[in-house]
Amino acid sequence: MNNLLVTGGCGFIGANFIRYLLEESDFKGRVINVDKLTYAGNPLSLTDIEKRFGVRYVFVKEDICERRRMGEVLDRYQVDSICHFAAESHVDRSIASPDEFIRTNILGTHTLLELMRERAKTIALFHHISTDEVFGSLGADGFFTEDTPYRPNSPYSASKAASDHLVRAYHETYGLPVTISNCSNNYGPFQFPEKLIPLMILNAREGKPLPVYGDGLNVRDWLYVRDHCTAIWTIMKHGRRGSTYNVGGRNEMPNLEVVQLICGMVDELDDRLSSGGLRKGLIAFVKDRPGHDRRYAIDCSRMESTLGWKPEESFESGLRKTIRWYLENNEWVSQVRSGAYQAWIQAHYG
Ligand code: NAD
Ligand code: TYD
Repeated sequence: MNNLLVTGGCGFIGANFIRYLLEESDFKGRVINVDKLTYAGNPLSLTDIEKRFGVRYVFVKEDICERRRMGEVLDRYQVDSICHFAAESHVDRSIASPDEFIRTNILGTHTLLELMRERAKTIALFHHISTDEVFGSLGADGFFTEDTPYRPNSPYSASKAASDHLVRAYHETYGLPVTISNCSNNYGPFQFPEKLIPLMILNAREGKPLPVYGDGLNVRDWLYVRDHCTAIWTIMKHGRRGSTYNVGGRNEMPNLEVVQLICGMVDELDDRLSSGGLRKGLIAFVKDRPGHDRRYAIDCSRMESTLGWKPEESFESGLRKTIRWYLENNEWVSQVRSGAYQAWIQAHYG
C-alpha cells in the first residue's frame, strides 16, 4: 500500500484514521484524502497533518459519485488501495431526508467498485467501513456476529446494508479483493456535534437541555475511535480478502447512563456553570426516534481470535479524553457549528 485512497477523510472516523496512519502506524506511503466536504466534513481536523506530512498527505475535494473525476484521481495518484469511509452517517437526518443517503452510500460505493473493477490489476484492496446497524435491533440478550442476518431499520442502515452487499457481490462475482468491517458506535475527538456524545458534552458545558429519546434505555456498544482505527489497519494488513469483521468496544451502556456519566465528568472538568454539579438536571426526555433500535452489541471474537486485535480503551478513560478534547478545542467546535464555516469552505475549496 503505497498510495492509499481514503474517502471521507475529513469526517470524524476518517480524520482520526489518517492521523493514526501517519502519526502512529507502520504505514509508509501516501494518503490521498477525497472528501466532498458536506456539513460533516471538516478540513480543519487535518490542518496540522497537512503541514507536518507534506507530500505524504494529499487532499482532493471531490464527490465519490462523480465517476469520471474519481477515475482521474485514481490514475493521477496511482492509487493501489482504498479505505472507504465516505457516507451520510446520521440516522436522524436519514429519517428526515433519505435521498443523499441513497446517493452517496449506495451509488457512491457502487461508483468506486466499478472504478476498481476497471483497474483490477493495480488496486489491491478495497476496505469498506460499515456499521452494526445493518443487523437491526437486539433484544435483552445476544450479540451480533458476522453471521447475523441483515435486518436494517432506518434509511441510513438500509443504505449501508445495500453498500455492504455490493462490496461482497463484487468480490464473489468479479473477484475484487475486498474486506468489510461492521463496527459499533464510535466516540472520540473530531465527531460532529449532532451525535449523542459530543452533543451532550457541548450542551452540558453550555447549560442547555440534554434531549434523551424515549425512555433512555436504548443500548449502544461504545467504541473509542482510536481502537476502531487500529482495527481497520489490522484488517487492511492481515484480514482475509472477501471476509467481514465485527468491531466493537465491549462497552454496552444505556443512553441515559451515558448522559449521566457525561454530566458528572463535565461538572468535574468545567466549573463555568455555577450549578454545583447539577448538570444531570438538564436531562430532558423527548419524543422517541421512529424505528429506534433498542439494543446493539457486537461480538468481536473473530477480530480477537484471528487477527489478535482487541479494544484498549475503557469507556471511562475514553469518555474523559473525549470530554477534555471538546472542552479544549473551542475553535474547532465553534467553526463546525457556524453557518459562516460552510461559506468559508465554499470560498476555499469551491
Ligand atoms: P461523518 O459523517 O463524520 O463523515 C463522513 C464524511 O464523508 C464527511 O467528511 C463528508 O464530507 C464525506 N462525504 C459525504 N458524502 C460524500 C460524497 N458523496 N463524496 C465524498 N465525500 C463525502 O461520518 P463518520 O462518523 O466518520 O463515519 C465514517 C464511516 O463509518 C461511514 O461510512 C459510517 O457509515 C461508518 N460508521 C460510523 C459509525 C459512527 O459511530 N460514527 C459507526 C459505524 C460505522
Ligand atoms: P446517535 O449518536 O445518533 O447514533 P446511532 O443512532 O447511530 O446509534 O445516537 C446514539 C443513541 O442516542 C441512539 O439510541 C439515539 C440516542 N440519542 C438521544 O437519545 N438523543 C440525541 O439527541 C441523539 C442525537 C441520540
